[in-house]
Amino acid sequence: MKKAIRYFSKMGNTKAIAEAIAAGAGVQAVSITDEPSLTEYVDILYLGGAPYANIMAPELKAYAEKLEKSQVGRVRLFTTSNWFRRTVLALKKLLREKGIEVEEEYFYAHMLHIQGRKDAAKEFGRKA
Ligand SMILES: Cc1cc2nc3c(=O)[nH]c(=O)nc-3n(C[C@H](O)[C@H](O)[C@H](O)COP(=O)(O)O)c2cc1C
Repeated sequence: MKKAIRYFSKMGNTKAIAEAIAAGAGVQAVSITDEPSLTEYVDILYLGGAPYANIMAPELKAYAEKLEKSQVGRVRLFTTSNWFRRTVLALKKLLREKGIEVEEEYFYAHMLHIQGRKDAAKEFGRKA
């Protein structure tokens, strides 16, 4: 089961969670600013980001818009934020409209509890 972890993070919270997920999955977490699109097919793509002023970062939206159904088996979402889970809800809708399978369950860490959520994030990364 090939997995990949991709994220967009301005201040490091989502990056920290992405790295914990990656440790569980046994792969590297890669920022979408370093690698703008997947270079090979993966069975499970972990994709994460955060809301800024009520919307997900345009960089993450563009990444999701470019993602093709043929590149992934399915997507597993994660997010960090202060109060809204809007980023995952918007991503779920956008990707599903493209025919990409997105798991219903996603991982959430509040921005003030990143450290305390790392073990759970690692477990999320281990999931089959
Ligand atoms: C400019 C700015 C706007 C934000 N707007 C929201 C928001 O609308 N809703 C929310 O829940 N969190 C908001 N936050 C909190 C971030 O989503 C949260 O800190 C998140 O963990 C940031 O992820 P990052 O560290 O990976 O960039 C905002 C933070 C910043 C700096």
